[in-house]
Amino acid sequence: MGVTGFVDIHCHLIAGIDDGPKDDQQTRALIDAARSAGIAAIVATPHCSLRYGLDSDDRDARLAAAESMAADTPLLFAGCELELSEERLQQFFEDPRRYTLNGSRYVLVELPHNAGGASLDRAARLFRERGLTPILAHPERYPFLPPDSPSLLAWIDNGGLLQATAASFTGRMGRRAKAAAFDLLARDALHFVASDAHDAVKRGPDMREAFANVAAAGDVHLAGLLFTHNPLAVVRDELLA
Ligand SMILES: [Fe+2]
Repeated sequence: MGVTGFVDIHCHLIAGIDDGPKDDQQTRALIDAARSAGIAAIVATPHCSLRYGLDSDDRDARLAAAESMAADTPLLFAGCELELSEERLQQFFEDPRRYTLNGSRYVLVELPHNAGGASLDRAARLFRERGLTPILAHPERYPFLPPDSPSLLAWIDNGGLLQATAASFTGRMGRRAKAAAFDLLARDALHFVASDAHDAVKRGPDMREAFANVAAAGDVHLAGLLFTHNPLAVVRDELLA
């Protein structure tokens, strides 16, 4: 696959499976919006949580329907957003590559809403012991996880990676998340920026404004790493540059 375009490793694209699109029409609209925004590839990441259980066979069947809508632009791959609850970790470790991003060593994870960050170092070790690399979704959006918190530093020390949400860099996720996202960027702590899109517009896939803001705050090379090259390495199951 080419690298001219964004590679989005966090997107709720699949219809009728979580709090993303309700039907195929909404999935089609999201795909069209992503294509218009210059997104070359998307990993579809439905929640795998206590609220939204994930049947990976059902996900794959629904993704096949979405692929016929996308017609290779953007390319679509399967993954999930794994909640770090005991129940879902148990499900995950029964067959990890069913849940990792495009069957790679990389797994996208989120914290239960009221969990706090206390279990992050243990979780990072669990994945690492099995040769897997966890990516924590949107650390900037957890009020209990400021950029300099010991939990987040322990996550990073144990090999965990960080993915910020594009909309945090435009202010659409609120002032606190925006400040935290730019703080993490300045600390050189981020590895990926992804859309976390849930629909075509309100929580849409357009990452262009965020890219411009990140490029302006850092440099274009760094923005290219976060929006394209690092996520492409994930899809290809390669080490990050
Ligand atoms: Fe998400």
